[in-house]
Amino acid sequence: MAMTYDEALSKLAEQGQEHLLAFWEQLDEAQRAGLLAQIEEIDFADIERMREALQHQQGDVAPAAAGEFGPAPVTTLAETGDPDVRELGLHALRAGKVGVLLVAGGQGSRLGYDGPKGCYEIGPITNAPLFEIHARKILALEQKYNTEVPFYIMTSEANDAPTREFFKVNNCFGLSPDRVIFFTQGMWPGLMPDGSLLLDRPDHVFVSPDGHGGILVALRKRGVLQDMADRGLSTLFYFQVDNPLIEVADPDFIGLHLANEAEISLKVCAKRDPYEGLGMVIARDGRSEVVEYSDLTDAQKEERTPDGQLRLLFGSVAIHIFTFGFLKREADQALPLHVAHKKVPYCDEAGNIVKPDSPNAYKFEKFIFDVLPDAERSLNVEFAREEEFSPVKNAEGDDSPATTKRDMIAKWARWFEACGVSVPRDADGNPTALIEIDPCYALNVEDLKAKLPEDFKIEGDVLLK
Ligand code: UD1
Repeated sequence: MAMTYDEALSKLAEQGQEHLLAFWEQLDEAQRAGLLAQIEEIDFADIERMREALQHQQGDVAPAAAGEFGPAPVTTLAETGDPDVRELGLHALRAGKVGVLLVAGGQGSRLGYDGPKGCYEIGPITNAPLFEIHARKILALEQKYNTEVPFYIMTSEANDAPTREFFKVNNCFGLSPDRVIFFTQGMWPGLMPDGSLLLDRPDHVFVSPDGHGGILVALRKRGVLQDMADRGLSTLFYFQVDNPLIEVADPDFIGLHLANEAEISLKVCAKRDPYEGLGMVIARDGRSEVVEYSDLTDAQKEERTPDGQLRLLFGSVAIHIFTFGFLKREADQALPLHVAHKKVPYCDEAGNIVKPDSPNAYKFEKFIFDVLPDAERSLNVEFAREEEFSPVKNAEGDDSPATTKRDMIAKWARWFEACGVSVPRDADGNPTALIEIDPCYALNVEDLKAKLPEDFKIEGDVLLK
């Protein structure tokens, strides 16, 4: 039974938040039902933690960046070339022990793209959307290793329906629909400086996604942990929607994670410059942590060692492997809250929607990497950025569609050259042709070598699928 008006009023009154029902008399039945459902969802234990987080926020330094810490230990790439390690990863894949987790609940506001970010078209020739590229990589793994790799996709209220629809109309890009599992993350209210919640419409409490760390609660609440257990998964590969260069469930990385008996492993790379927006891996009290770039002071970002290198050099690119048992254990842990001061449209006392010119309210998020200090063993693995990381974040400049397409083409050009095919390049060394290779045609150089006709030449744009 849904909550009644009286129940909602008493729940809110206990917390001094009755103003959320201020427009009740003007609402129609559907609006009333929607508002009651939202009020029912609000967990005031969470709100209490938000208020506490706000109080801690008052100082200049974010809690995560305070105190003593140093750079985290990083495993170099050389160690990933071990054939035995790779075999461990391949064995897990072939045995159907590996699942893939994609977080795609964010709002992608920086890119200025309306709709789920995964629908953004990025294939240099085919305009394949990000979701297609990710899904085809999973399909390629299933075909290549004759296995099943369930694909779990976390969405949020704002983009769940269009995301599901997109997969449906595209026949899951060839994946078996029973192995494409969608689940939604939680939504959290924002707070005004005095700790009150806001309406953004007379019938609607302002809420926003609770951060990718919300995945832990969502995995449990939506029955996904159970689904993973039912399918016998032991290793979960986690990544973000914006990076088409991703090596999904790469056997070397999985193998390294397993060989080290880590509970969580992270891929890390050197920052491009002190101000690149990467979370930095640090070590504190013998454990690794990630401190978000926005939490570090400029002095911390710029600090150098005597040999001139950045002291905090390695950033996490949000490519992780989790042991299933660790995810399950963490699903009941309360993660720290991260606070952002934002411009939040709100409904004034007369019921008008006001768009503020400056930040007026606080939004709260949980970050998945805050589980790191809880891990008994964790591993930071350095990788070559040009091979695996080129996210689409901004409309222009660094990390934009233009740089991502450039990096995709450059990677495939290197594959061709490794196969002995010459790639026409301009004076700056950039390939002059467009290149695109469907993941089901080749997932890596070895696959390409095995398939390319002997006399293959690049004479114009190349699309292999
Ligand atoms: C993120 C990381 C940063 C990392 C960088 C690498 C955070 C806070 N920062 O930065 O440490 O170095 O990527 O590219 O994560 N998402 C959800 N639900 C949410 C919020 C986000 O699913 O509530 C998803 C998004 O859909 C996206 C990913 O999480 O796939 C990252 O979100 P985004 O806001 O783009 O993070 P960045 O600031 O780019």
